[in-house]
Amino acid sequence: MASLLIKNGNIVTAGEQYTADIYCDGEQISRIGRNLDAPPGATVIDATGKYVFPGFIDPHVHIYLPFMGTFAKDTYESASRAAVVGGTTTLIEMVCQAKNEEPIRDGFELWMSKAVGKSACDFTFHQSVTRYDAHTEAQLREIVAAGVSSFKVFLAYKGAFDMTDKELYDTMALAKELGVVVTAHCENADLVLEMQKKLVGEGKTGPEYHYWSRPPRVEAEGVHHLVTFGETHGTHIYTVHTSCKESLDEAMAGAARGVNINVETLIQYLVLDKSYAELPNFEGAKYVMSPPLRDKSNQQVLWNALRKGYVSTVATDHAPFDFVGQKDMGRDDFTKIPNGIPSLEDRINLLYTHGVAAGRIDLGTFVTSASTQAAKLFGLFPRKGTIAIGSDADLVVYDPTYRGKISAKTHQLNLDYSAFEGWEIKGRPAVVTVRGEIAARDGAFVGTLGRGQFLKRERTY
Ligand code: URP
Ligand code: ZN
Ligand code: ZN
Repeated sequence: MASLLIKNGNIVTAGEQYTADIYCDGEQISRIGRNLDAPPGATVIDATGKYVFPGFIDPHVHIYLPFMGTFAKDTYESASRAAVVGGTTTLIEMVCQAKNEEPIRDGFELWMSKAVGKSACDFTFHQSVTRYDAHTEAQLREIVAAGVSSFKVFLAYKGAFDMTDKELYDTMALAKELGVVVTAHCENADLVLEMQKKLVGEGKTGPEYHYWSRPPRVEAEGVHHLVTFGETHGTHIYTVHTSCKESLDEAMAGAARGVNINVETLIQYLVLDKSYAELPNFEGAKYVMSPPLRDKSNQQVLWNALRKGYVSTVATDHAPFDFVGQKDMGRDDFTKIPNGIPSLEDRINLLYTHGVAAGRIDLGTFVTSASTQAAKLFGLFPRKGTIAIGSDADLVVYDPTYRGKISAKTHQLNLDYSAFEGWEIKGRPAVVTVRGEIAARDGAFVGTLGRGQFLKRERTY
C-alpha cells in the first residue's frame, strides 16, 4: 500500500499539541518528527496552518434500524461516506434487534452483514440485550468472544426494546464476568407510556408534547435505576445520550460513591434546545428524539461537565428518518414520530464551531471527547483515538479557517432535511484518512466503500 507524508501540521492529541510531520507506511503511522523525507511515490500533504487530529470516533450510531414502524434511512454506504467527510473514521453501531425476534445471534449477524463489504470507515457494535434467558446468555458469550465487548440495554421503548429488572440484573452479572461495558438508554418506559396516553387523551398531539411525555425526571429515574443495578455487580456502565442536569446529577452521585460509570452526551443537546421541537407547521417533528431536547439552561451544564471531564464522550445517536414519509407518520400523534435527529456528518464541525471556536472547550477536550475517550472506554486504544507510532493512520487534517454552511442540499446523508439547515460552521476537515488511504477531501468523499473493517475488541476491565 502507498505511503503518505503529512507535513508541518499542528498535531493535537488528548494530551499534547506540537508541530511535526507524520509518515504513514501503509495502514499505520510509522514515524513522527520534524523534516521527514518522503520516499519516491509517497503522497505528500502540506498541513501548514492546519490541525492534525486523530480520526474521530462516534460511539453511538444507528444505521440499520427497524424502529417505530419504519426503518432508519441510511445504509452503510451513505452513512459511512457522511461520517468520513465529517471526520469520523470509526463508528460504533447499536445492534438493535426487537424483543422476542429471532435468536440474538441472528441479530448480530444481520447487523454485521449490513456493514461488511460496504463501509468506508471502520466499525464495531454495541450488542443490544432485549431479553435474557439461558439461550440468550450462551449466544451473548459467543458474540463477546467474537470481539464485541459492550452491551446496550434500553430502559425505555415499552414492548419494543425494554427489559425486566430481572433481565437487567442478569445482564449486569454476565457483563461483569466477561468485562463488558453496559451502555444504557435511561428513561422509565412505563412512565413514558402512561404520560403519552394522558397527553394524547387530552388532545395534546403535536411534536412539542413529546418533551412533556419524557421530562428530565423520567430520564434521571432511568439513570438512577441503571446506577443501582450497575453498582450491585460492580459492572462498568455508560449512560448514552445524557441530556440534562438531573441525569448528570444521578450519574455523578453514583460515581461519587464508587460506581464505575461514564457519561455520554450528544452534540444535539449541546447546541439545540426544546424550542426547536416547538416550531410551527409540524417543523418541530424534525427535532423529536429521545430523550427530548431540553431547556436551554442544560447546555451550560453539559459544556461545563465536558470541560471538567464529568461527561466523557460526545456522540450523535445518529438515527435518520425523512421528514416526508417518515416523521410525518406522526402528524396527528407525536408518539408516532420516529425518534432521531441525524448528525453523523456534522458532529465534529459543530463541536469545533460551538465548542473550540466559541471558547467553550479547548482542543484537548475536543479530541478527548470526540475520539480518545471512546477508544479507551470501548477497547480500541491506542489503535484508534490517538496519533502515535503504531496507531492506525486515521487522521483528520482540519482547516480552522474554513467558513461554510450546513445544508441538506449538499450533505452526504440519504435524508431529505438537516436539523442544522443554514447553520454556519467555522472549520472542516480538509483531508481525512482511513488506515492510510485518503477518504475525504474538502467536503468530498474520495474513499473506498467496503474498505472499512470490523474492529474486534477485547474486554476493557
Ligand atoms: O431518538 C432517538 N434517540 N432515536 C434512536 C433510538 C435511541 O433511543 O437511541
Ligand atoms: Zn436511546
Ligand atoms: Zn441510540
